Amino acid sequence: MGSILPPARSGSDRKLNAVTTAAEIPSLDLCGQVFEAVQEIAVVVSQEQVAANTFRMRLECPGVAAQIRPGQFFMVRSLERSDPLLGRPFALLDIIRNSGGEVTGLDFGYVVVGKMTQLLSQLDGGARLSIWGPLGNGFSLPQAEHVAIVAGGIGQTPFVAMLRELLGLETYGSSPRPLLHKPQQLTFCYGARTAAALAGVEWFDLPGVDVRLATDDGSRGHHGFVTDVLRQLIAGEAAPGEVYCCGPEPMMRAVANLINPAGIPGWLSLETPMACGFGACFSCVARIRQPDGTWDYRRSCVEGPVFPAADLVFAEDA
Ligand SMILES: Cc1cc2nc3c(=O)[nH]c(=O)nc-3n(C[C@H](O)[C@H](O)[C@H](O)COP(=O)(O)OP(=O)(O)OC[C@H]3O[C@@H](n4cnc5c(N)ncnc54)[C@H](O)[C@@H]3O)c2cc1C
Ligand code: FES
Repeated sequence: MGSILPPARSGSDRKLNAVTTAAEIPSLDLCGQVFEAVQEIAVVVSQEQVAANTFRMRLECPGVAAQIRPGQFFMVRSLERSDPLLGRPFALLDIIRNSGGEVTGLDFGYVVVGKMTQLLSQLDGGARLSIWGPLGNGFSLPQAEHVAIVAGGIGQTPFVAMLRELLGLETYGSSPRPLLHKPQQLTFCYGARTAAALAGVEWFDLPGVDVRLATDDGSRGHHGFVTDVLRQLIAGEAAPGEVYCCGPEPMMRAVANLINPAGIPGWLSLETPMACGFGACFSCVARIRQPDGTWDYRRSCVEGPVFPAADLVFAEDA
C-alpha cells in the first residue's frame, strides 16, 4: 500500500529523510513539528503488564527514539494487518539507551480499549510494527518554582520522561534543550478508579518528586478524585506556580476550572482521536480561544497535543 505520509525532514535543514517514502506536501501548514518525523519499522523487544488491562511495551526504533521529546507522540500501525487501517497515537514514556549510551528505542504505555491496543497486547518479542514520529509539540520546560503534575487514566506515562528531563537524569532529541531553570518542588498527583488501575507508580520514585495518589474507591491514596489533591495543593502554603496535566477530558476540564480562576498557568495534553497525525484530516481538532474572545479549531496533532489550559474551550463550555 502506498504511504499517505508527508516526507520526514530534519527541523533545521529540511533535507528529505531517507527512511520516508511519500511525496512532498509543501503547502500544508504543519507548524514545523512534522518535519522531524521519521517512519521506521520498530521491533517489539518486550512488554509487561503493569496494571489491569495496561501494558508497557519496549520497541527497538533508534530513528524515532533519537528525536522524540517528552510530551510528543508517534503513530503505530500494524505491518501484517490492514485492520485497523489507520495508525493510532501513543505518547513517549521514556527512551532506552544501550550500554554505550546510544539511543536504541523507546517505551510506551497503553491501556487496552479497542482494536489496535488489543492487537498490541498479543504481540511477543520480535514482532514488527510501523511507527512514525515524533509528532506534536511536546511539553515546554516549566518556569515555576513549584510544578504540579496531574495525571489520570493512562495520562501518567508522558510524565516519566518529562520528570527525568527536569531532574537532569536524561536528555531527549537530537539537540537536547538546556535546563535553564530547575523547579524547587515537583508534585506528581496521579489518580485512577481503583488501586489495581494505578500503573507504574514506582516509575515516579524519582529524587525530589512528591507522589500523591488518589483512587475513586479509596483503595489507595486519597479517597476521591485526583483533582481534590490539586485543590488542596492550591489552597496550601506553597501553591503550584504551574500545572501540567494529561488524562480523561472531564479530569482535564476540572483541572482547568481550578487553575484558570486562580491564575495558575497550566498545560493540558489532549488525547483526541487522530486519523492522520500530520494535520491533513482535521479529525483531531480542539476548540482554542482566540485573542478576540471567540474560539476556533486547532489540530491537536500538529498544534498540540499540549495546549495552554487558559485557551482550551471544552465541549460543555462552548
Ligand atoms: C497524542 C496522543 C497520545 C496518546 N497516548 C496514549 C498512550 O500513551 N497510551 C494509551 O493507552 N493511549 C494513548 N492515547 C489514546 C490512544 O491513541 C487510543 O487509546 C487508541 O487510539 C485506541 O486505539 P484502539 O484501536 O485500541 O481503539 P479503537 O478501536 O480505535 O477505539 C476503541 C474505543 O475507544 C474510543 N477511543 C479511541 N481513541 C480514543 C481517544 N483518544 N479518546 C477517547 N476515546 C477514544 C473509541 O471511540 C472506541 O469507543 C493517545 C492519544 C493521543 C491523541
Ligand atoms: S489527526 Fe489528521 S489533522 Fe490531526
